[in-house]
Amino acid sequence: MIKAAVIGCGFIGQAHVEALRRLGDVEVASVAVSCKESAERVSKSLCVPAVTDYREILADESIISVHICTPNNLHYKMAEEALSAGKHVICEKPLAMNSEEGRRMCKLAEETGLVNAVCFNYRYYPMTAEARGLVLKGDIGRTFLVHGSYLQDWLLYRGDYNWRLDVGAGGRMRAVGDIGSHWADLVTRITGLVLETVCSDLGTFHKERLKPAGISPTFEKSKKSEAEPFPVETEDYGGVLVRFKGGARGIFYVSQVSAGRKNRLTFEIDGSLGSIAWNQERPEELFLGRRDGPNKVLLKSQELLSENAAKLAHYPGGHPEGYPDAFKNLFISVYSAIREGKHREDDYPTFRNGLNSLLLGEAILKSHETGGWEEVEQS
Ligand SMILES: NC(=O)c1ccc[n+]([C@@H]2O[C@H](COP(=O)([O-])OP(=O)(O)OC[C@H]3O[C@@H](n4cnc5c(N)ncnc54)[C@H](O)[C@@H]3O)[C@@H](O)[C@H]2O)c1
Repeated sequence: MIKAAVIGCGFIGQAHVEALRRLGDVEVASVAVSCKESAERVSKSLCVPAVTDYREILADESIISVHICTPNNLHYKMAEEALSAGKHVICEKPLAMNSEEGRRMCKLAEETGLVNAVCFNYRYYPMTAEARGLVLKGDIGRTFLVHGSYLQDWLLYRGDYNWRLDVGAGGRMRAVGDIGSHWADLVTRITGLVLETVCSDLGTFHKERLKPAGISPTFEKSKKSEAEPFPVETEDYGGVLVRFKGGARGIFYVSQVSAGRKNRLTFEIDGSLGSIAWNQERPEELFLGRRDGPNKVLLKSQELLSENAAKLAHYPGGHPEGYPDAFKNLFISVYSAIREGKHREDDYPTFRNGLNSLLLGEAILKSHETGGWEEVEQS
């Protein structure tokens, strides 16, 4: 068994534990949490030893891989220490607080040769992999336009609060960094297009929110409790025009204040022969658009998918697979490299993809500030 550990056991840390256990040959040997009370609760609910100092995990030579699932401001420090301790690192997105940290993480990871991955999990749905296969084999012709959005509503009300609202914990970009990063990674992975320039507009509708006493877990509704006013410096909404290298155009918008939209990541890719569209809230369907014939909706079913997409479908057609399954698929890919003990740059999303996403966020912020088009640097 490969021994792995997870640092941070909130919303996504628990998803990592569950997905790792589905691999079969990976044991979640330990988790690190932030306090003694959480250690008791998490240890009991997940049946795993829990420590309150992640350095205990790093010092344990039997643990070979570490998953970083803490707030964004801790990623850099924890990844650096984990790589220096010889652990393979799977880090949540956004990779770091800024591109400077991201560059240092890439450099260190590349020097050690250890496996480094960042969790752009939406690549690992059967139907997004099918979309990539279709675009790459020319099914929709030359890509003209890529458009879509990523919408959520869990920060709609003034009383909704989470650490992501605090620049010191979440970083300077919020909606763009938190969910726009997924959108951009996914569409560039599918199309193979490279971002060239962006022109953006960011909006903060609640300039002041109410910060409750105590912890506000991710996706939990605001509770009536003692709360104090909290000035908000990050965006609830971002709209971005995109120019890709080679002439394709794009437009996307992200929002965490769109009532009724829970986790609605959508994209459409319009090409010279046809179009493809997908919606994360209906993950089993891929829309195939045609002008001179009927449109189609391809339903996930192993025998109807290309080889690479079919590998990500573990159940027969009509048996829905979605968010947790994509994490399992991502980890299957990452742990195949860990078993070999050697990083692979193009097999799974890497720190370099995480860095490119940070560079995009910085270009979007700069464009919002200057009011003009800004270049997107690629690492
Ligand atoms: N890939 C995805 O789809 C996805 C989805 C959600 C969150 N995320 C990312 O995962 C990370 C965590 O987000 P979340 O929503 O799970 O937040 P969360 O608040 O639910 O969980 C974070 C956990 O980290 C713990 N923590 C804080 N400091 C710690 C420390 N020093 N040692 C151990 N644990 C510590 C907190 O107590 C908390 O339980 C973020 O970077 C976020 O962007 C990714």
